[in-house]
Amino acid sequence: MGKAKKKTVQDETVDLSMAEKILDQYRGVDGCLIPVLQKIQDGYGYLQEPVINLVSERLNLSLSEIIGVATFYAQFHLQARGKHIIKVCCGTACHVKKAKNLSAKVIDRLKINANETTEDRMFTFEEVSCLGACGIAPVVVVDKDVHGTLSPDKLADILDGYTESKA
Ligand code: FES
Repeated sequence: MGKAKKKTVQDETVDLSMAEKILDQYRGVDGCLIPVLQKIQDGYGYLQEPVINLVSERLNLSLSEIIGVATFYAQFHLQARGKHIIKVCCGTACHVKKAKNLSAKVIDRLKINANETTEDRMFTFEEVSCLGACGIAPVVVVDKDVHGTLSPDKLADILDGYTESKA
C-alpha cells in the first residue's frame, strides 16, 4: 500500500491513512458502508469531506449515496464536534420542568446555539428528545454523565468545571 494522500479542508490537513486502513479491512465486503462510516467517525470525530471522497472512491458509491446515509442516521456527523458533548433534553417531562432555561444557560455561557460547536472545539451543544431519565427531569447529559433535577445555576457550575479542567 502506498503512502496516504493528504488533502486540505478548512485550513486542516487530513491524514487519510487511518481511513485507508479501515477501508482495507472491508475490501470486497458488500453492504459495509455503515460500519465503515462508524469506524471512520470514531477515528476522526466526524465525517470530513476528504474522507467521504475516499470512501466514495474505494466503495464505488456515489457521494450522494454516502451523504444520504450520513444525514439519515443521527449517529453520523458531518461537522466537527467538541471534546465534550452537552445534551439538553427537550422531551415532555423536561420541557414541563423548564429545560428551556437550561438551554438558555448553555447558550449564554458558551455563546453557541444548538447543534453548534465552540471555536476551541471544547463543547458541542445539542437539544435532544427524551434521554430516558424523566424521573429526574430536567436532565442534561455531558458526555456520559447524567445530571438530573438540574437548575441553570447548577448547570453553569458543571460547565465551569469542564472549562477549568481544560487548563
Ligand atoms: S423527557 Fe427528559 S429525560 Fe425524558
